[in-house]
Amino acid sequence: MTLPILPRCKTPSGAAYVERGSGEPLLLLHGVGMRAQAWQPQLEALSSAARVIALDLPGHGASNALSGTPDLRNFVSWFAGVVDELALDRFSLIGHSMGALIAAGYAVTYPERLTRLALFNAVYKRDHAARCAVQARAAEILRGHFDRNAPLSRWFAPNEQESPAYQSVQQFLHAVDKSGYAAAYQAFAEGDSVYADDFAHITCPALFLTGADDQNSTPQMATQMAKATPQGRAIIINGHRHMVNLTAPLQVNGILLDWLKASCENNNMSTVFDARALRDAFGAFLTGVTVVTSTDQQGKPLGFTANSFSSVSLEPPLLSVCLAKTASSYPVFSQTTHFAVNILGEEQKALSNTFARPSEDRFAGVNWQLSENGSPILKDTAAWFDCSVYQRIEAGDHLLLLGEVKAFNNSGKTGLGYARGAYFTPAQTENRLLEHTLGSTQIALVAERDGQLLLLPDNKNGWQLPALVKTQMQTAQQLPQRFAEHLGVAVQMGLLYSLYDDTQSGQQHIVYRANLGQGAVNNGKWFAINNLPLTAINSSAERDILKRYTQESRLGNFGIYLGDQHQGQVHTVTA
Ligand SMILES: Cc1cc2nc3c(=O)[nH]c(=O)nc-3n(C[C@H](O)[C@H](O)[C@H](O)COP(=O)(O)O)c2cc1C
Repeated sequence: MTLPILPRCKTPSGAAYVERGSGEPLLLLHGVGMRAQAWQPQLEALSSAARVIALDLPGHGASNALSGTPDLRNFVSWFAGVVDELALDRFSLIGHSMGALIAAGYAVTYPERLTRLALFNAVYKRDHAARCAVQARAAEILRGHFDRNAPLSRWFAPNEQESPAYQSVQQFLHAVDKSGYAAAYQAFAEGDSVYADDFAHITCPALFLTGADDQNSTPQMATQMAKATPQGRAIIINGHRHMVNLTAPLQVNGILLDWLKASCENNNMSTVFDARALRDAFGAFLTGVTVVTSTDQQGKPLGFTANSFSSVSLEPPLLSVCLAKTASSYPVFSQTTHFAVNILGEEQKALSNTFARPSEDRFAGVNWQLSENGSPILKDTAAWFDCSVYQRIEAGDHLLLLGEVKAFNNSGKTGLGYARGAYFTPAQTENRLLEHTLGSTQIALVAERDGQLLLLPDNKNGWQLPALVKTQMQTAQQLPQRFAEHLGVAVQMGLLYSLYDDTQSGQQHIVYRANLGQGAVNNGKWFAINNLPLTAINSSAERDILKRYTQESRLGNFGIYLGDQHQGQVHTVTA
């Protein structure tokens, strides 16, 4: 098997490198057993934004072997020498695995030389078991036992063996010089702690990226490094292991292009915020929950849970959702022509969790069918929108997808809510409340249609809200049907509006907002909302309810009254 060698340049001391593009310098350092070509996808993609220089580590590819002892500090000195040979003043630096250890060592020793730093799949303060395992491997290699296939099973998932990334890495490992590999591995085995306590010296913005399934350079390590670095940020790529720059090139390149684009002043600004605190503050905004779906090129369905949904435009009909670039479905959504947004109903919490957690097949056991546009539509949702991609906008670490609605359905069910990291179910909560109330409870409606309210005659020549008593129904689910029979038109129940005790009669009153369907009603009269016969409403509690409704409907912002017939408080719906 021959391995095509990319044309190399060499520094006077014999360090080989591949160079692409022009502009601000960006240096790339590969891991043990690899070579400059292990950055192939980045060499191509990043050369549009920078002068990219990928080095062969000492004793790897076409670089001379390291002179001196094979420890990490010596590798860092080698790299510092190469930087000087290349006459680079300031530059950005990315290292992968062993290359990341060298890059970290350089960053803490020469912080003033770096514009940006990115460490991929780096090890940091290994625990006892991981340390013993890597030291045992290093000792084996020193004794001359170098199993060129062993790293592959750690670096790749079993189902990736046919992938081009696996094949390339296998070729690199088979071509590497044994003594070059052994020297780098010795330094690698000890290298997780050499500079680990000095990350506070790294002054430039620093990115710590790894695969969620990398067992040795773990997400936890990436997070710890980010915390230890003044401007550190961790990014975890779901569904990937150690060779993340090769197995997730689209995601990684997207992240790196943004990283290169952002000026360092901007980076300073953005890292002023603690990401967790910012996310928590965003979480104060109450949302619904959607599952966004599409299909890959083989027609396999895929999807993710999203609460970033927003309606955007009526003409043309547009909506938007945001997808993290680290999501495993990002490569598909960054290219697909179509997607669907399924707005989950209150009973669909489990679906939300299914589509937010890693799984081989999120659609297993889910009831769905393909839309005309070719996207999966989930069953029994509150609503769905079948879309063509209208526009894709790169937005920081997310992709903003604008969809043009081609078809939609609205079941009338109340949607599942989400706020501050927890689900809420407004209609179910109200129903439960209703089911626990006494049998004599009166349930009334503020029943609206086209800007008018329906009022029924009372027996004192006045008007009252349409009402039933709880004994007339078995469960809360029967409310719309019972009211429809009572009023003669379809009834779509809205949210709770008022809950009060009549302290004189001992009766409880529950008032809902409702929308009435078209057609003639059995009884009563329609009144314009801003012209209600308030003086002819004999119940003072109902009079107050209607006054409040008139005011609140102007703003479209309804509260809930809790109290008795004389006094109480209006709460916001979110309370
Ligand atoms: C309620 C909720 C809302 C979410 N909203 C979004 C969102 O708007 N955009 C996004 O990228 N991820 C969102 N997520 C996270 C993704 O659903 C989750 O990270 C993703 O499905 C993981 O995909 P992967 O394992 O395929 O990478 C949300 C998760 C939950 C539970």
